[in-house]
Amino acid sequence: MLQSTTSLLLLALPTLLHAIETTSSPVLCNGPYILCSTALCTTIPGNSTYVTCTCQGPYTGLNIGITTCDDRETYNISSFSFENTASNIYVFPCEGANAGPWAQCNGALCDVPEDGGDITCACPLEVGEHLYYGEECPSSEEGVQEACAMLRSTTDFLTNSNATTMDDDMAEELEEEPPTIEFCSVPGNGTS
Ligand SMILES: *[C@@H]1O[C@H](CO)[C@@H](O)[C@H](O)[C@H]1NC(C)=O
Ligand SMILES: *[C@@H]1O[C@H](CO)[C@@H](O)[C@H](O)[C@H]1NC(C)=O
Ligand SMILES: *[C@@H]1O[C@H](CO)[C@@H](O)[C@H](O)[C@H]1NC(C)=O
Repeated sequence: MLQSTTSLLLLALPTLLHAIETTSSPVLCNGPYILCSTALCTTIPGNSTYVTCTCQGPYTGLNIGITTCDDRETYNISSFSFENTASNIYVFPCEGANAGPWAQCNGALCDVPEDGGDITCACPLEVGEHLYYGEECPSSEEGVQEACAMLRSTTDFLTNSNATTMDDDMAEELEEEPPTIEFCSVPGNGTS
């Protein structure tokens, strides 16, 4: 009994002591990862800094994220890839009046239940301008507002030039064409 308690503790310790290191620029790895690219999130009662997002995976393959490849091999960590994306990804900024809460899941630590249940990741809650991306561009101002109002896992750094770099990096390693990232021109985004 004592022995099993001790080994449980020893197993848990590295996770507790190890802080996931954030890299200064995105790192491309080939290995395991969790994908939260368009995950929906919910607030955690009593916690104003993190939200819980329901993500997908685990996947293995090329992925780009802001943690080291070692950490992604060791822990279930959220990263980004084009797995689960259509051939075109449509992106637009949620800015002005449409800026608001979003979850920054890249690099988040995730819980992968052994029984195949939902994968959840604890993602830092951010408030402000961010990007919406999905399978189409909204066609009305209401559509933009609705899309931007969802609490989702997304990013604020996927600017046009970053997206192109990511595309190129992935394309170089993948032996297939990555999806095209289209920047939507959206009606009245945050201006009214
Ligand atoms: C909020 O959740 C994060 C991630 O699980 C945790 O590290 C932090 O301690 C929580 N904060 C509070 C106030 O519970
Ligand atoms: C992810 O979690 C599963 C189930 O808890 C575990 O078996 C596996 O080793 C973890 N993978 C990584 C890379 O941490
Ligand atoms: C690209 O992303 C990084 C964060 O990973 C950010 O610091 C940088 O400003 C971005 N580059 C551009 C051109 O937006």
